[in-house]
Amino acid sequence: MGVDMGYGGGGYGRRTARTVEERIPMRVVIAGGHGQIALLLEERLSGRGDQPVGIVRNPDHVADLEQRGAEGVVLDLEQAGVEELASVLDGADAVVFAAGGGPGSGTARKETVDKNAAILLADAAERAGVRRYLMVSSMGTDRADPDSDDVFQVYLRAKAAADADLRSRDLDWTIVQPGRLTDEPGTGRVSLDPSAEPREIPRADVAHALEAALDRPATYRKQLTLLSGPDPVEEAFVALP
Ligand SMILES: NC(=O)c1ccc[n+]([C@@H]2O[C@H](COP(=O)([O-])OP(=O)(O)OC[C@H]3O[C@@H](n4cnc5c(N)ncnc54)[C@H](OP(=O)(O)O)[C@@H]3O)[C@@H](O)[C@H]2O)c1
Repeated sequence: MGVDMGYGGGGYGRRTARTVEERIPMRVVIAGGHGQIALLLEERLSGRGDQPVGIVRNPDHVADLEQRGAEGVVLDLEQAGVEELASVLDGADAVVFAAGGGPGSGTARKETVDKNAAILLADAAERAGVRRYLMVSSMGTDRADPDSDDVFQVYLRAKAAADADLRSRDLDWTIVQPGRLTDEPGTGRVSLDPSAEPREIPRADVAHALEAALDRPATYRKQLTLLSGPDPVEEAFVALP
């Protein structure tokens, strides 16, 4: 007898299945496949039998993905066209945007990666017929200073623009907005309370939450604050209205 995983019907990769034996593996393409959250997510997804595919721009990173049970596709998201990216998404059940210019990058790469690459991924998802899009955004995007040249404010505005673009689309999107990321071990517990004071969250818990959100229709078309907190990850998503 199968173990009921408690997932609602209608989710990608699960469709009518409600048991471990019947679960249909999901092909999940992760933009920024060698990022710290992405690597943790790839490990989790391959561990539950899914097929993670990471998009990386450095061929040397492919081996790290393969070690985590993921396939690596070499593509620079600042250079690729929509058709090229759509061909990578062919046959995928979901996409995850986990790329970023990173803390060391200047304002130009906030535009080209944090904003434009996220929008390119949505264009390509639509072109390839992939409805599910999980965005790794950031807490605070809705409070970005519209005028500041400070690189963090430019970053927040770029993330806010990418989030707004995604919200406008007819896709099954979820925008996850974590607090400041840490490399502490995962706790398996989070808070989705949008009124909570900003606080940190381990990348491991973000990856856990992304895995849990991926095929939960209750998260579709929602923007969710994600912080460390008291609620077991799966229960937090089950409790969503
Ligand atoms: N830091 C925080 O406190 C914080 C808080 C909330 C949200 N966030 C968001 O969370 C995201 C994920 O966090 P993380 O720590 O996992 O990020 P990360 O380790 O910096 O990973 C970002 C990945 O994006 C890739 N990338 C950059 N430009 C690319 C391009 N042109 N084509 C393909 N891939 C490209 C990078 O590849 P390379 O290795 O080749 O550069 C890197 O592997 C961040 O980017 C940020 O937007 C961060």
